[in-house]
Amino acid sequence: MIVAIDGPSGTGKSSTSKAVAAKLGLSYLDTGAQYRAITWWMISNGVDVTDADAIASAAGKPSIVSGTDPSHPTITVDGVDASGPIREQDVTAKVSAVSAVPEVRARITELQRSIAAGAENGIVVEGRDIGTTVLPDADLKIFLTASPEARAARRSGELKGADVHATREALIKRDAADSSRKTSPLAKADDAVEVDTTDLTLQQVIECVVTLVEEKRAAT
Ligand code: DC
Repeated sequence: MIVAIDGPSGTGKSSTSKAVAAKLGLSYLDTGAQYRAITWWMISNGVDVTDADAIASAAGKPSIVSGTDPSHPTITVDGVDASGPIREQDVTAKVSAVSAVPEVRARITELQRSIAAGAENGIVVEGRDIGTTVLPDADLKIFLTASPEARAARRSGELKGADVHATREALIKRDAADSSRKTSPLAKADDAVEVDTTDLTLQQVIECVVTLVEEKRAAT
């Protein structure tokens, strides 16, 4: 059972994907963390992240390893735990530019496909292009949405009281960049089930997705 969960930031994708995977005994992959990890490596190694050619030449260099236990997801870069640094503001501001470079996407997509293929008990993979590009044959595709206001309110809560207006502007800018890039943009697959989480609690979103997975399992 391969479940693809896509959508913009602040829709509850990560919390939902982890909880659903844990509840149903599936592995879990946070593909945003992989793009963040390669971005962090570029910044730490002096790669000019405004230069697409420099990013492309460096794309194959770091070794990125994702741990897929939903109750303890991990990510290492060249053997170093990167879970903390990849969430820093500087990485968040630069990850859209790095992840738009085709060589980066090709590298990370290959990694994602091999992790999904190796997940014997099934996997929940969350991202932006999982249902459309990475795993177009996923058993179930879900696209989470929410109003910009709800997404900004959730994100500023996670960032411990960050200004909601500034968070909303940054989030809209990042989604616009992710949705408009040429290679594999953030998009809903034609056969994805769309779930609008604006007026739902996290618990309700989790229950909704668990039900969708169970229905799919019963039907196959
Ligand atoms: O989910 P996140 O906010 O941690 O993702 C960080 C960035 O990574 C996001 O702005 C776009 C990029 N990303 C992507 O291009 N494709 C994916 N499958 C997942 C994330």
